[in-house]
Amino acid sequence: MFAIPTLVSLFLLAVPHVVYADPCVAFDANFNLLTFGLNGKDWNAGTQDSWTSGSATDITASGRPPFDGANTTCYLAQFFNAVYVLNGDKSNPSNVHIYDAAAKSWTTQKTNLNNLDLSTFVTILDHDTNVFYGLSQNNLWFLNMGEQKAASSSALDWTNAETSPYGADYQPTMALAQNHVHFIGTPGTPAGSAQIFVIHFSFFQPQAQAYSGATFPASHGQATSFFQDSGVQQEFAFIPDDFSDVYVINVETNTTATLAAPSSKDTKARYAASITALVQLDSSGAVSFIPYKQGDASTNSAAKWASVANIAAAVPASSASGSSATGTSHGSSTGAPAGTRVSGTSTATGSSASSTGSGNGAMSTAASFGTIAAAVLSVLASLS
Ligand SMILES: *[C@@H]1O[C@H](CO)[C@@H](O)[C@H](O)[C@H]1NC(C)=O
Ligand SMILES: *[C@@H]1O[C@H](CO)[C@@H](O)[C@H](O)[C@H]1NC(C)=O
Repeated sequence: MFAIPTLVSLFLLAVPHVVYADPCVAFDANFNLLTFGLNGKDWNAGTQDSWTSGSATDITASGRPPFDGANTTCYLAQFFNAVYVLNGDKSNPSNVHIYDAAAKSWTTQKTNLNNLDLSTFVTILDHDTNVFYGLSQNNLWFLNMGEQKAASSSALDWTNAETSPYGADYQPTMALAQNHVHFIGTPGTPAGSAQIFVIHFSFFQPQAQAYSGATFPASHGQATSFFQDSGVQQEFAFIPDDFSDVYVINVETNTTATLAAPSSKDTKARYAASITALVQLDSSGAVSFIPYKQGDASTNSAAKWASVANIAAAVPASSASGSSATGTSHGSSTGAPAGTRVSGTSTATGSSASSTGSGNGAMSTAASFGTIAAAVLSVLASLS
């Protein structure tokens, strides 16, 4: 069965890394897929043509945040080929960490939160102005990142712009397209419609915008914008918490199309999109993608999710299922052989793989580590 000493050492080595940390996913301006804080390291999976074979490149570099926080999010500033990381450092939540993807270097931008509550904050980075707009406790906040691909010496201010019309109970689901911030699932807004904040006029549109085609639910979920060859973003993917479909909303034609829902139905998963793919990073650390072609309904309806296999290969491999886990050590040099997102539930209950996993056949070792940790705990429990 399990080689207990190996498992125990794996578990002990990993303990400092396993709880509370959220990795994040983003593209660089050349549409290389990047993950940060996965397995305690940062990875470049390259462009879409290289995802299904080989191994992702370790791009872990000094100056990076520890990626030890919850709700870490990453945003591509496309014009500057920079990735901005929010909540990357639990001890310094107001820091914005900037990854210069061309120079492969990190700097840390200080900000003044001015009472912004980051624990309830959902935000988008406006593509054209490079300004974050976000909602926290019914207030709209912004932070102007200027033209930064490296931190400036002075702190930047989060500014409380105004109260939103959506009420204190609204759990924000926000997406950007065409300099309009779209809010989905606001109270009283019907399915298939979204509320809009027009950035250039700092104006909440009084009426919801309706979209024809597939009707997306008026619910909480995740959203991310597709990029365009032309620059401006005009479509975003909405992944509702019910995973009924992935809805692609086009704000030029005001229509909604669909893509298959991801196989990992994890409401804590995070998403990033390029021009031609939507990527999911789930909370077990598994990264998968679905190819996308704007305006091509037949291609999109046939598209299927697949593992970003070169990331799965780069994260030290162990078997993806509990039954075949051998406990062979593939420990990495960091001593964090598994993903950073092993959930508290799986380790605490000592139950089987099912407590972390959500059925993606290509689960990364992060999920299988949960299995191993759980197995270790149950072994330890039975010994004591
Ligand atoms: C993370 O997000 C959840 C859900 O919004 C929230 O309850 C929690 O407080 C957040 N944690 C941190 C550390 O911001
Ligand atoms: C689509 O919706 C936007 C936002 O409400 C609106 O400005 C635009 O006129 C609409 N376009 C069409 C083609 O109806």
